[in-house]
Amino acid sequence: MDQEQLDAPTDQLNRPMRDLRLSVIDRCNFRCTYCMPADEVGPDFPWLGKPERLSFDEMIRLVRQFSKLGVEKIRLTGGEPLLRKDLASLVRELNKVPGIRDIAMTTNGVLLARHAEELRRAGLDRVTVSLDALSENVFREMNGGFDSPSQVLEGVAAAKRAGFQHIKVNTVVRRDMNLGEVVPILEEFRGSRVVVRFIEYMDVGNVNHWERGQVVPTAELIQFISNHWNIEPVAKHYLGEVADRYHYADGGGEIGFVSSISQPFCRPCNRSRLSADGKLYTCLFATEGTDLRSLLRDGSTDEEINGVLRDVWSDRNDQYSQTRWGGDVKKEQKHKIEMFYIGG
Ligand code: GTP
Ligand code: 5AD
Ligand code: SF4
Ligand code: SF4
Repeated sequence: MDQEQLDAPTDQLNRPMRDLRLSVIDRCNFRCTYCMPADEVGPDFPWLGKPERLSFDEMIRLVRQFSKLGVEKIRLTGGEPLLRKDLASLVRELNKVPGIRDIAMTTNGVLLARHAEELRRAGLDRVTVSLDALSENVFREMNGGFDSPSQVLEGVAAAKRAGFQHIKVNTVVRRDMNLGEVVPILEEFRGSRVVVRFIEYMDVGNVNHWERGQVVPTAELIQFISNHWNIEPVAKHYLGEVADRYHYADGGGEIGFVSSISQPFCRPCNRSRLSADGKLYTCLFATEGTDLRSLLRDGSTDEEINGVLRDVWSDRNDQYSQTRWGGDVKKEQKHKIEMFYIGG
């Protein structure tokens, strides 16, 4: 640990910066109803162009400074991260940054079979694959009509073959669409060491037509699952983990629940997010980011960039999930950043 890490900043709620979610591209080959529904994000959507996106060299330059301020864990996100060309070379470079101990990726899985082995060889530690349904119809209803669950399952199988030890499946539950998929998904992965996590449908961004009635609270889901299997809570792996962990009493493995709506988890939140065009967001529900790209491109030194990161984190006071129902109507009306700019 060098001197800079020793005096790494904490925010206004005394939270360190540990986890950086790095969005490598805003585009996606799906149009999930809860993220970028096709009626809102159409063919003429103003996607970021190549010059607007950070290059891998620029990302690495920033990650070096983040790591000096306490970041140990990088999660690659999108949009869909596998749409960014030659992602494995970014992973290789991330692995060389001192202090980075864990590199993960969240993907929709369709392109994973093609890339799993190369990414594993490059040093990616973990993969999380989104999968909302096993029934083709429901899968396509959830994601705007693309591809099929079998491609995602092939991606998961390829990740296993490539030697990934830690594979998770994320399932966003919408009451009107895929509640009936919960048990089949658990059956598919029970006993396989793949951890399924159910995510409460969140009010992220401005375009996903979020309705409270579509959220299935974790407590209800646990009741529902308990009609099929005996499951028990187990302790979190680390402070700030977003999912509550359960396991099957009979040894069938683990299930996770991400309960941003019913049981917010802002208190230990140590996550920061970098959009593909180099804006730093300190909360999933942020309305504004800090433009780091212009610092990268205007001749600022590493020390100056480090100073900006330190100041942003020291000023941070975010706790959106915990205060969202607190009557702060003005905040509700503000324009929130879209999920696909900051990868969830
Ligand atoms: P692990 O490192 O495996 O614990 O990953 P993770 O759970 O941090 O990452 P993942 O991308 O799998 O996130 C799971 C779900 O939790 C996604 O729907 C994210 O949008 C959501 N999520 C992750 N971080 C936060 C957060 O800080 N706040 C809120 N409200 N939701 C989050
Ligand atoms: N609510 C909950 N989870 C969401 N994700 C995207 N949009 C939402 C939402 N509105 C999830 C995806 C993926 C992760 C990056 O974020 O399913 O697993
Ligand atoms: Fe794409 Fe993921 Fe958003 Fe679905 S949730 S549209 S897969 S970025
Ligand atoms: Fe962290 Fe913001 Fe999510 Fe709370 S709502 S856990 S502060 S990202």
